[in-house]
Amino acid sequence: MDDLPPVGLGTMGIDDPDAVAAAIDAGYRHLDTASIYENEAVVGAGIERAETPREELFVATKLWVDDLAGERVRPATEAALERLGLDAVDLLYAHRPRGDYDPTETLPAMDAVVDDGLAARVGVSNFLPGDLELVRQHLDAPLFANQIEHHPYWVEAETVRDAREHDYALVGYSPLANGDVFDDEVLAAVASERGASVAQVAVAWCLERADAVIPKASSLAHQRDNLGAADLELTADELARIDAIERENEVFPE
Ligand SMILES: NC(=O)c1ccc[n+]([C@@H]2O[C@H](COP(=O)([O-])OP(=O)(O)OC[C@H]3O[C@@H](n4cnc5c(N)ncnc54)[C@H](OP(=O)(O)O)[C@@H]3O)[C@@H](O)[C@H]2O)c1
Repeated sequence: MDDLPPVGLGTMGIDDPDAVAAAIDAGYRHLDTASIYENEAVVGAGIERAETPREELFVATKLWVDDLAGERVRPATEAALERLGLDAVDLLYAHRPRGDYDPTETLPAMDAVVDDGLAARVGVSNFLPGDLELVRQHLDAPLFANQIEHHPYWVEAETVRDAREHDYALVGYSPLANGDVFDDEVLAAVASERGASVAQVAVAWCLERADAVIPKASSLAHQRDNLGAADLELTADELARIDAIERENEVFPE
């Protein structure tokens, strides 16, 4: 977990390599993409254009559910690396436990791509505690991370507990609830009291439970704003006020 920069850049929907390069040169060291976002080439071109060396970056991608059959994992990983223009990724996720996902085949195949040096670590995404139990049975490498939806309107308490109990990283996605947080009165009040932005308050709240979060931002102004959340420590009272928000809204249901 020490290797995982806490505020990463979610890139879903980013189609301009210069936006990725600008984020890297503004300080982002953790980039999150996926084959299903159809922008691995954009992210790769951004890495290429940035002044920061690739070795300083933590690059994660995800295999979509059609590529999780045992025999598809290696060719799909190679194709993702080709699009990214990289020899290896720092983290390779299984995107969701469905479609062709089969723990007895997918996980040994992910072990093999790690053994062959195509990925440094294995992660999963949208896995619930039952799925995670099967990961522990069939994955040889230590599980590095589970990436789950995580924001003030959606907390999967059991899944968070599983990460703490079994000591792998929790990566929170959609920390701004895909933009919904900007209408929130509680977050707005905390932000105004602290002289911070609503995005910073939401991201800082997420970082209380998650080891990393990956807000998506296209503009440099938003990217810088979100990066600043790493320096915002919310008080116990502020965290409790946000915890008490009653609204529930899963942005990406199964
Ligand atoms: N594993 C999975 O199944 C899964 C599913 C969904 C998402 N994800 C990952 O999570 C990342 C983030 O999730 P998300 O894209 O759903 O949404 P999000 O990060 O919760 O919110 C992004 C929205 O907030 C805006 N925004 C960002 N920073 C802002 C700021 N400081 N001030 C005002 N507006 C701001 C963005 O606008 P601009 O773009 O205009 O800046 C965009 O409209 C994705 O990019 C992807 O990498 C993973």
